[in-house]
Amino acid sequence: MAKIEFGGVLEEVVTDEEFPLEKARDILKDEIVAVLGYGVQGPGQAMNMRDSGINVIVGQREGGRSWQRAMDDGFVPGKTLFPLEEAAHKGTLVQFLVSDAGQVATWPRIKPCLTEGNALYFSHGFSIAYQDQTGVVPPEFVDVIMVAPKGSGRTVRSNFLEGSGINSSYAVYQDYTGRAEERTIAIGIAIGSGYLFPTTFKKEVYSDLTGERGVLMGCLAGVMEAQYNLLRKHGHSPSEAFNETVEELTQSLIRLVAENGMDWMYGNCSTTAQRGALDWGPRFRDAVAPLFDELYERVVSGKETKIVLEANSAPDYRERLQKELDQMKSSEMWRTGATVRSLRPENRKGT
Ligand SMILES: NC(=O)c1ccc[n+]([C@@H]2O[C@H](COP(=O)([O-])OP(=O)(O)OC[C@H]3O[C@@H](n4cnc5c(N)ncnc54)[C@H](OP(=O)(O)O)[C@@H]3O)[C@@H](O)[C@H]2O)c1
Repeated sequence: MAKIEFGGVLEEVVTDEEFPLEKARDILKDEIVAVLGYGVQGPGQAMNMRDSGINVIVGQREGGRSWQRAMDDGFVPGKTLFPLEEAAHKGTLVQFLVSDAGQVATWPRIKPCLTEGNALYFSHGFSIAYQDQTGVVPPEFVDVIMVAPKGSGRTVRSNFLEGSGINSSYAVYQDYTGRAEERTIAIGIAIGSGYLFPTTFKKEVYSDLTGERGVLMGCLAGVMEAQYNLLRKHGHSPSEAFNETVEELTQSLIRLVAENGMDWMYGNCSTTAQRGALDWGPRFRDAVAPLFDELYERVVSGKETKIVLEANSAPDYRERLQKELDQMKSSEMWRTGATVRSLRPENRKGT
């Protein structure tokens, strides 16, 4: 582990410098890693581990699109692709990567497949941290571990292929074998994490649920819509409102923030933008702070979990979701977005 200062606070992190892939391969050489679920994280982690030289099989319910996708990605039925329980039986390190609601539904069938010394692996603290609601209580004779990539499964794969990585947090909830931590870090390296930082199952899920409801998606979508609506209300064209709200952010500013940080961004915009943004930043911060307090309280108390489990386990969840997304897609703002994207030079080429 390397000790690195983050903004003046010392943290221990792991990269492939301290923990090279060869070491990960050696630690996992006798393991069969069974990836249960081939949705978003499943494919990214399974293919990265396979490319890293780890013995990987996939468990997926048969017949659907995900089964077909696993086959398209080179997993072979009866050899490296099995129904869920069969893969869980064969695996020594069982990665539970069906959706969080799917974990609740399938746990009663997966639990009996685990044997002494197995590792039960998660990519989210959800099922364990909210055990009272999920019913996922692992037997005491297995390791319970987590590597949680801080990005979509799609970028877990695409960044790996580009030679970059997604940062991941990791945690050990239960160490039966005495090898839980090295197994965890080995998987974190094999899936191509940029760097790994320690957490607990609870901290991971609290920060993750807050982040996705907050700045990463919910808050971002909300403030974008508020600004777009404001500009439209005052007679600005859809094109102008969208460019000033979304396109300039995604195509220009946020990329510079990713490369150089926010202070650099402030230092390198017009002096007009600079003064105004520096003055308004704290006002927005203070305006949303109470909402963030409420959000975190609801996450910790399990209220958000209750909503998620109820909604996601409804039989018509997908149809209802599709309706909501279609509504968003057909709104003026996001239809404008589609047109703006189609006008990007790279998308106009050849038309
Ligand atoms: N999405 C991400 O990028 C991301 C990022 C970090 C961590 N995670 C965590 O990674 C884990 C997996 O998430 P995910 O987003 O990859 O999940 P997902 O795409 O929603 O998972 C879908 C997978 O779960 C299976 N599944 C769902 N319900 C099932 C049921 N009742 N019985 C059997 N199989 C069922 C699906 O099979 P079918 O296709 O047959 O329905 C599919 O293989 C979760 O713990 C999540 O929190 C996800």
